[in-house]
Amino acid sequence: MTTAKLRQMKAAGEKIAMLTSYDFTLARLVDEAGIDMFLVGDSASNVVCGNLYTLPITVDEMIFLAKGVVRAAEHALVVCDMPFGSYQVSEEEAVRNAIKILKESGCDAVKLEGGEEILPAIRHMVQSGVPVMGHLGLTPQSVNQFGGYGLRAKEEAEAEKLLHDAKLLDEAGCFSIVLEKIPAALAEKVTKAVSCPVIGIGAGNACDGQVLVLHDMLGLNTGFKPKFLRHFANLAADVKNAVGTYISAVKDTSFPNTEECY
Ligand code: KIV
Repeated sequence: MTTAKLRQMKAAGEKIAMLTSYDFTLARLVDEAGIDMFLVGDSASNVVCGNLYTLPITVDEMIFLAKGVVRAAEHALVVCDMPFGSYQVSEEEAVRNAIKILKESGCDAVKLEGGEEILPAIRHMVQSGVPVMGHLGLTPQSVNQFGGYGLRAKEEAEAEKLLHDAKLLDEAGCFSIVLEKIPAALAEKVTKAVSCPVIGIGAGNACDGQVLVLHDMLGLNTGFKPKFLRHFANLAADVKNAVGTYISAVKDTSFPNTEECY
């Protein structure tokens, strides 16, 4: 998969399927299943590390996780999130961190949250040869400014700013933009207004593609079920059953049996 192929898919009306991944073993299965793009999301802060927010995860921790996904990805493009604090301080620091992530993890592109405010950093990255994915709408690194994870851009002013920001990101050379948790009609307007592929999460069906957090869509995280999330499996129950059966087999000494011994 390449950024050029993603553009061709948008032009041809072929939908793009993206999922998060944070480790080699699951990423290999996801790649073999035919996913188009991986996101090594800073949602790893929640999913992998158990933090309440995405804010604590660091550049080095993202690189560590991305390396495993890159080793697994034979087909899909790998995008790695730039964590909070790694691109906001200055353009120079943003470019330095983006290049560090690309060089040390081997991923194909980086994603960062925000619009006009971070445009100079995005321009500098694109000019330096870094493929950049934008992220607008509910941007979880701003959770404390937003005061929660609610729907974004329901009011006219915020919707207009989002459309404006999307056009700026597109013109600056972002190869794709994620739209998170915004009204479907606005996401459709943005998708038609920009030349790059738009990937939605909680942004309706008119986007050029969709992304979900892998652990959420596999039903591993039963405590989280927003309206936009579909469980495509119920792995939490499967894992608990398997572990329960293993515990019983250890306790009643039926595991290991003679065939499982040397
Ligand atoms: O970190 C993440 O998983 C994301 C997706 C929700 C788009 O940014």
